[in-house]
Amino acid sequence: MKVQKTVLLKNGKQATLRNAEGTDAAAFQAYFAQCHGETENLLTYPDESNGDFEAGLRRRAESASDVEILAIVDDKIVGSAGIGMIRDRDKTRHRADFGISVLAAYWGLGIGSALTAACLDCARKAGYLQVELEAVSENESALNLYRKFGFVEYGRNPKGFRTRTGRWQTLVLMRLELI
Ligand SMILES: CC(C)(COP(=O)(O)OP(=O)(O)OC[C@H]1O[C@@H](n2cnc3c(N)ncnc32)[C@H](O)[C@@H]1OP(=O)(O)O)[C@@H](O)C(=O)NCCC(=O)NCCS
Repeated sequence: MKVQKTVLLKNGKQATLRNAEGTDAAAFQAYFAQCHGETENLLTYPDESNGDFEAGLRRRAESASDVEILAIVDDKIVGSAGIGMIRDRDKTRHRADFGISVLAAYWGLGIGSALTAACLDCARKAGYLQVELEAVSENESALNLYRKFGFVEYGRNPKGFRTRTGRWQTLVLMRLELI
């Protein structure tokens, strides 16, 4: 699913949204480490990446069901978002999961909204009927972003995450029907 567009941010700068490619692996790895170290609201700690970034990005670039979109400002990756099939079975092929992150220095500029809109366009093109996600209950920015795009809460998992300091984080389960 090809994505290539330019969006105007709230600070007057331009961001490019485009597919991540295998050649972005080194820059993406650095982005991943930075952004996963800036928040406690993501699933993965910076040292928990599962290895081969290049193969993962190449696979998504060639996939008809999955996509990874980068937001680039001044030639730097400042955000990324993706969708992927939840499970490749007849009964679950209609469901995609959605994930998103933006570097803290770029929050509040409209990058999260632009990435979300681009991912939902891809989800529709790929034929998904439902997009799903889980968000930490204290992550107000993310919850507001998702509500803005029509996601609705369908449940909570009070012990969804346990941080390395032993703190429980409630996960809010959300879904969006694409019709
Ligand atoms: C959640 C996140 C992706 C939002 O990205 P962003 O680029 O700041 O989002 P935008 O600037 O497009 O704002 C989108 C909406 O989020 C909400 N929002 C943004 N900043 C907010 C804040 N400080 N307080 C409350 N709501 C906020 C608003 O509803 C906003 O819509 P509006 O601009 O029309 O009012 C970003 O904060 C982030 O990457 N956080 C760390 C990683 C993370 O938590 N990912 C989600 C895991 S579930």
